Amino acid sequence: MSQQPIKFAYWVPNVSGGLVVSNIEQRTSWDIDYNRKLAQIAETAGFDYALSQIRFTAGYGAEFQHESVTISHALLAATEKLKVIAAILPGPWNPALAAKQLATIDHFTGGRIAINVVSGWFKGEFHAIGEPWLEHDERYRRSEEFIQALKGIWTTDNFTFNGDFYRFRDYSLKPKPLQQPHPEIFQGGSSRAARDMAARVSDWYFTNGNTVEGIKAQVEDIRAKAAANGHSVKIGVNAFVIARETEAEARAVLDEIIAKANPEAVNAFGSEVKNAGAASPEGEGNWAKSTFEDLVQYNDGFKTNLIGTPQQIAERIVALKDVGVDLILTGYLHFQEEVEYFGQHVLPLVRELEQQREGKRAVA
Ligand SMILES: Cc1cc2nc3c(=O)[nH]c(=O)nc-3n(C[C@H](O)[C@H](O)[C@H](O)COP(=O)(O)O)c2cc1C
Repeated sequence: MSQQPIKFAYWVPNVSGGLVVSNIEQRTSWDIDYNRKLAQIAETAGFDYALSQIRFTAGYGAEFQHESVTISHALLAATEKLKVIAAILPGPWNPALAAKQLATIDHFTGGRIAINVVSGWFKGEFHAIGEPWLEHDERYRRSEEFIQALKGIWTTDNFTFNGDFYRFRDYSLKPKPLQQPHPEIFQGGSSRAARDMAARVSDWYFTNGNTVEGIKAQVEDIRAKAAANGHSVKIGVNAFVIARETEAEARAVLDEIIAKANPEAVNAFGSEVKNAGAASPEGEGNWAKSTFEDLVQYNDGFKTNLIGTPQQIAERIVALKDVGVDLILTGYLHFQEEVEYFGQHVLPLVRELEQQREGKRAVA
């Protein structure tokens, strides 16, 4: 178990429609004023990171989106400590542009930008913007080269790289990013290809929500592979948080979300994500085993079960830390109010439980 305090991130709602595909009321907004205020609330509440989303088009109810790098910069400009992770999709971005763009933002913001390299699961989106659609494992091979190129550009001069997807000749980026050795590189997925890439090149591996046992198996698999590669990788897990004064209240909210789910949109999303891990050779990807109820939350966030009282949620977070999780990525129905509530009621309990464990470890 890591002795570092577990870190917290929240999903930036830069895509319309909230994080659940349901007609339940969601007091949230994808607009910039709402998002600036949310980022300020989150940093005061003790959150370490905000994660923006990249989406060019959506056919399942999330039809308006602000671009991820742009909104990430705006949120950094509105805050002082929060790190913002900008999602970037290889294909529309190449590593020369991404490295330059993020190095500039890093300088403008005192070294607080990070990147989430997403590999793509939405074939319709690629077709809509004229991007060639690669097979599942090829998408990860490209993402891995993208990350190798980013690291090379950010850390060396006269960078030369002969990949299948990207080529550089004697290239020296100036200035290099402020953060040393480079801005943190996150990556998402669950499939074999996603895990193997994390075990070779990523600083952080983000995965969909899951049970503690499911997460433990992934963590052990990735850490063993990373160790064999002489690499180390931190783990972030998605969770949809419903924290209420009583467990019954929290469960009632989950029941209402599911009861008011929009079946047409959930099924449309479900059929699109089949292009992700279910199409990977081993069929273990992000949504390979998701039920209808799981799919009501875009990244299986109910499965992590951070649904209950602050005490129950804090205990489950520490149980995730016990199996090797370094960061919890959170989503909410009513973002501003619930991020604040989480900071006031859940986070202090997590810190208490962490301290109790440290005390026990010191005695033993
Ligand atoms: C936390 C997290 C955030 C993600 N953010 C995005 C995103 O903003 N845009 C996107 O197209 N895909 C996003 N993805 C999708 C992944 O990059 C990847 O394509 C997907 O998880 C398929 O994984 P698989 O190979 O395990 O099925 C995200 C995944 C996770 C776990």
